[in-house]
Amino acid sequence: VDQLALDLHLDLTSARGVRTGIEDSLREAIRAGQLSRGTLLPSTRALAQDLGVSRGTVVAAYTQLAAEGWIGTRAGFGAVVVADPSPPRHKTSSASAASTRHDLRAGFPAPSSFPRVEWLGCLRRALLSAPAQVLNNMDPEGLPQLRFELARYLGRARGLRVTPDNIVVTNGFTHSLHLLARVLDHPRIAIEEPSNFMHRAILREAGHELVLLPVDTEGAVTDQLGDVGAAVVTPNCQFPLGVTLSARRRSRLIDWARETDAIIVENDFDGEFRYDSHPLTPLQALQPESVVYAGTTSKSLTPGLRLGWLALPDHLVELVRRVRTHTDLSNGVFDQLAFTEFLRTGSYDRHIRKQRLRYRQRRDAILSILPEGLEVSSGNAGLNLVLYLPDREAEGRALAAAAARGLAVEGLSRYYEGEARAGLIVGYGAPAEHTFASALEALADTLRST
Ligand SMILES: Cc1ncc(COP(=O)(O)O)c(C=O)c1O
Repeated sequence: VDQLALDLHLDLTSARGVRTGIEDSLREAIRAGQLSRGTLLPSTRALAQDLGVSRGTVVAAYTQLAAEGWIGTRAGFGAVVVADPSPPRHKTSSASAASTRHDLRAGFPAPSSFPRVEWLGCLRRALLSAPAQVLNNMDPEGLPQLRFELARYLGRARGLRVTPDNIVVTNGFTHSLHLLARVLDHPRIAIEEPSNFMHRAILREAGHELVLLPVDTEGAVTDQLGDVGAAVVTPNCQFPLGVTLSARRRSRLIDWARETDAIIVENDFDGEFRYDSHPLTPLQALQPESVVYAGTTSKSLTPGLRLGWLALPDHLVELVRRVRTHTDLSNGVFDQLAFTEFLRTGSYDRHIRKQRLRYRQRRDAILSILPEGLEVSSGNAGLNLVLYLPDREAEGRALAAAAARGLAVEGLSRYYEGEARAGLIVGYGAPAEHTFASALEALADTLRST
């Protein structure tokens, strides 16, 4: 406790005296959240020494603050903050989260499914056996051993044509897109409509003009590309509609990229989860020189890990490396080490296989409770289904009915910028195993009532 730093700029010039100055400063720091509940304060002796005041003065200030309920003191344990700051002016969404009992939002794997024990084992083994200099590694493209394992995995499990030299490890797709937005120099970029609104914002904030590609039953409509330098697409599982880009459209897209010297960004964020059919050849494997392939662990493991990768055409590797260096230098070494081991030992494959079986059962369970006549997306891949509704009013009613049952689902229309289709996006990754049945019941009840 004697060594605790307290840099509070205590106001000792208060006209009301030094003791009151200490009290006021600490009270204000707790109110403002600088000192949060549970923070240990320096011992009275240490603080008195630091401030050049008598110990008795600090004891008196602590005693007063304890009497007012700001701090707690116990002999031998020092003082600790026990009050919360005044409520922030901007409320977070915690209030709505509190009333959510069932979580069927799109795109979240169940936190309880994260293989904690295995991950820790991988981290422990990798960290204990890594040469000391690895801990200083800040290669912007990622650890060499991780790029080696990723290239092997992507070739074996996803059918890519890639070498470790073409891989850049990132903090997930969001980060990958941010890097690409700075590297792609053509002012116009195509992206699907509907799509993740954050991705559109990232591209626009980097100065690009967007061309929105409609999506039909064959995926993105490729004959509306126009004069763009790149197209960002989700061919394996369109987000949020779940459609797979047809073989015909794939080859058209590749031809377009070859003829116009354009880049295709293949966002394969949840391509591991395919249920009833074999995956089509990735665009990257059809034409590695024109395609940037982007992957992430956000759906396969957990979004909190913040770990993804890019497989880049040769001519983009150095450009992405440079932008990455000037953004955040590199990924942390510890997660990279753990993930390398997780891949090397086949744990990643096993985890995905387990999750795929679980998700397929969940998807089937949802399909089995849908009312007759409801139009539903293909559901062949990914972590969500779309239940189409006739219009926005129907969507609003369904969302209200869901909220009344404590069921969190998303409306489809918010993913469009132009004319929107209406519906519910029902994710089935998020619930823990023991809560899925009740979430399903809440969904069935919601659909019955709308
Ligand atoms: C279409 C799409 N791609 C990728 C991601 C994953 O992004 P990240 O890897 O940054 O977590 C998401 C997240 O929800 C998404 O909606």
